[in-house]
Amino acid sequence: MQIMSNEKSTFNFGVLKNSAFFAAFSEKQLMMISENADCVFVHANSVVFRLGEYSAMMYLILNGRVKIERKDADGENMVVAELSDGRVFGEAALLSRGPRSATATALVDSELLVIDRDLMLEIIRNSSPEEIIEIFSALSEQARAANEIELNETLKRRTLAAQMEAEKQRALTEMVAGVAHEINTPLGVINTAVSIMARELAAPKEVTIQRAADIAESLEIMQRNVERAHRLVQDFKKISVSQLTDEKELFDISEAVEETVNLILVNLKRSQVGVNFVNRLAFEQKSWVGYRGVLSQILINLLTNAERHAYPSGIGGNVDVTIELADDKHYRLTVQDYGKGIPKECQPRIFEPFFTTARSKGGTGLGLAIVHNLVVNVLKGEIRLRQELQKGSAFQVVFPRVLPD
Ligand SMILES: Nc1ncnc2c1ncn2[C@@H]1O[C@H](COP(=O)(O)OP(=O)(O)O)[C@@H](O)[C@H]1O
Ligand SMILES: [Mg+2]
Repeated sequence: MQIMSNEKSTFNFGVLKNSAFFAAFSEKQLMMISENADCVFVHANSVVFRLGEYSAMMYLILNGRVKIERKDADGENMVVAELSDGRVFGEAALLSRGPRSATATALVDSELLVIDRDLMLEIIRNSSPEEIIEIFSALSEQARAANEIELNETLKRRTLAAQMEAEKQRALTEMVAGVAHEINTPLGVINTAVSIMARELAAPKEVTIQRAADIAESLEIMQRNVERAHRLVQDFKKISVSQLTDEKELFDISEAVEETVNLILVNLKRSQVGVNFVNRLAFEQKSWVGYRGVLSQILINLLTNAERHAYPSGIGGNVDVTIELADDKHYRLTVQDYGKGIPKECQPRIFEPFFTTARSKGGTGLGLAIVHNLVVNVLKGEIRLRQELQKGSAFQVVFPRVLPD
């Protein structure tokens, strides 16, 4: 920060007079401030004060723009305000000697008037009791407004987190319904085979070679279908359990992708969507210490989007799911469809929460927001939409083979 000479006090006086914060201050008080306060110049992107620091200054923005950031209860940064000319910040330091509860950063080259605690005390000393009350009510009003913004921001964020959690559950519930339905098929076949065998064995006839062959065939059909049902249940168990724990585990990444794809396929078949799984990982590249549940949430959302948005007519089409190395240190998971594509004007918004072009069909607009959140925050990776490749859309997720702790 660069301190400048005080020749601009007339200009300062004008800004002070028009600032809502100083509205109740007398001419005499404003004169005192503009004559005694320093004017500083801060460059764009430089920090005025940092969370946790001790300093007893309040600032008035003469011209420029300043961002105020706090940490919320979950330790996440949130922007509580973007302030411009005539607004004050850092006033809490005049009231308490505690550390800064926020970080203030100039967004553009800005000019600030610095009002320190000594100057404020000097003003208070020279004020009447009524004037002092005005000063404190300006300070407390400012503090109240800041708290209200923070509360609203926190509420908004919590609500969104809860809605995203509900959407994840919904995606899983839909899969449960599909799997339950799918298990009926092998069970039905087994049932038929059992009835045939029961009938064959009920009448104590001679066991001919033909009858033995029929019974053997029925048994084989039963065995195949029991296995199919068993596999569905096993795969489903793995996925649903992994959704409930957020512990890292060691597993074969390409096997996990394939198992998830097969399960989702059970649901996609009704709209004639086929999925082609391609593994391009060598044997020794497949072990991953990561999150199976996160992978499956990502795939569920991307594949149901292909079903609903890329092939909305129900005639169906194909989706390629590929797992490969992007480079030595990263995996790349690609979900490519050859359907409708995403219009240019929608592309910048698809990862935003609540952006959907299918609200009338029950779209919530949370699917890609969930995917984005999981990729960036849990897998520490990136997701990109590649439209130029071919007709349709390709979502590419690139994430580290070794997750940082
Ligand atoms: N594979 C796709 N093909 C075409 N459009 C897509 C595809 N995937 C996503 N979209 C578009 O992105 C929007 C947001 O997707 P998403 O966040 O999953 O919300 P929702 O599926 O509830 O609409 C969709 O409404 C759709 O317009
Ligand atoms: Mg979706």
